[in-house]
Amino acid sequence: MGLKSDASGVNEFGYRVFKLGGFTFRRDEYFTHIDWPGGGHIMPADKFLKALIRDVAWNFFYGTVNFDEVFGTVNHYGTVEVFAGLFNAGYRASNKHHVESFDTNLARTTFEEMLEDWTIEGFDPFAAPEETGTAFGRKHGGNSRAVKRTRVVAKRMAGMQGDTPLRSDASGFPVNRHFSDVNQDEPEVHTEEGFEGEVHAFNLFAYLSRSDVTWNPSVCAVVKDSLLCPTTEEFTLPVIHGNDRVEWFVQLSDEIHWEIADRETGAPRARAVMKAGDVSAMPADIRHQGFSPKRAMLLVWENGNPKLPEMYATKQLKPNPVDF
Ligand code: PHB
Ligand code: FE
Repeated sequence: MGLKSDASGVNEFGYRVFKLGGFTFRRDEYFTHIDWPGGGHIMPADKFLKALIRDVAWNFFYGTVNFDEVFGTVNHYGTVEVFAGLFNAGYRASNKHHVESFDTNLARTTFEEMLEDWTIEGFDPFAAPEETGTAFGRKHGGNSRAVKRTRVVAKRMAGMQGDTPLRSDASGFPVNRHFSDVNQDEPEVHTEEGFEGEVHAFNLFAYLSRSDVTWNPSVCAVVKDSLLCPTTEEFTLPVIHGNDRVEWFVQLSDEIHWEIADRETGAPRARAVMKAGDVSAMPADIRHQGFSPKRAMLLVWENGNPKLPEMYATKQLKPNPVDF
C-alpha cells in the first residue's frame, strides 16, 4: 500500500503530508519520503528530523545543509534553494538533480510545521541518542518543548547584566552525565570603579557542561562579524555542512572526528581527528561532518560578514586562510 493522504492532508499513519513547490514530504512509521517531479528519495525519519530541526533553528545556516548525500538546502540569505542531488556527483552526471528556490520565510514555515507535526511524544531531535526516546511509530502526541526550544543568543555576552542568564541547576540545566568532572567554580570579577556592568567573566566549561542539546552552536559573544559559538557534541553531526566561508574550530575538550569532502561532489578530501586544544580552519570549499564518540565541547568561530560567499565565489579570497 502506498502512502495515501486523506482530504485533510493526513495519511494512514496519522502524519500530515506537506508540499513546498514541486516537493512533497510524507512520513510513515520509519521513513521520510520526499518526491519531486522526476524523482524521489527515502530517509530514516529520525535522521530527517534531526537535520530538519537544525535547519529550522539555524535559519538555513551558512551555505549548504545536506540532510544526507541527496537532499538539502542552500542559504542565499533571503531566499533558500531546496534541492535533490545538487551536490551529488551521480545525480549531476545524469542530470537528475532538482532545485527550487523559495522565499526563506515560506520554506522555514513549512519546515517548522513539518517538524512540529512529525516529532512524536518522547522524541527530542536535538538530544543525543542515549538521551531521547524513539522517533519511530505512528503519530502519537508531540514534543513542542523540544521543537520550540530557541537557541541561546546573547546580546553582549552570556551572564552580563541584562543579558541571557547563565545556566544553573535551578533553571533546569543539570550537569550532563559526560561532564560530571567539569569544575563548576565561577571566576571572581573585580571591576575597576566606573566600569561596573561592563566587565564580566564566566566559566565557559561549566556553562557548556549544562547544555541539554547536541550539535547546536549558541552565539555566545559577538564582536562585529566575529561570532563565537560554543557547542556540545555527542554522536554524529546530523547534517553534512557545505561551507560558503572559512570556519574555525577550537576543540575545547575530548575528541571529534571530522570527515571532510569536496563541497560540490562529495569526493573525500581529508580526515581530521581533533583532540582537546586542537584548532582547525575548515576551507570555504568543503563539506564536513563530525563524529563525537563521547560528549565533547567545541568552539565554532564563524565570520558573519555577508559579503564572504561572493568573495569566495569570485575567487577574491582563497578557500584556505593559511598556507603552510
Ligand atoms: C558545522 O557544520 O560546522 C557545525 C554545525 C554544528 C555544530 C558544529 C559544527 O554543532
Ligand atoms: Fe560547518
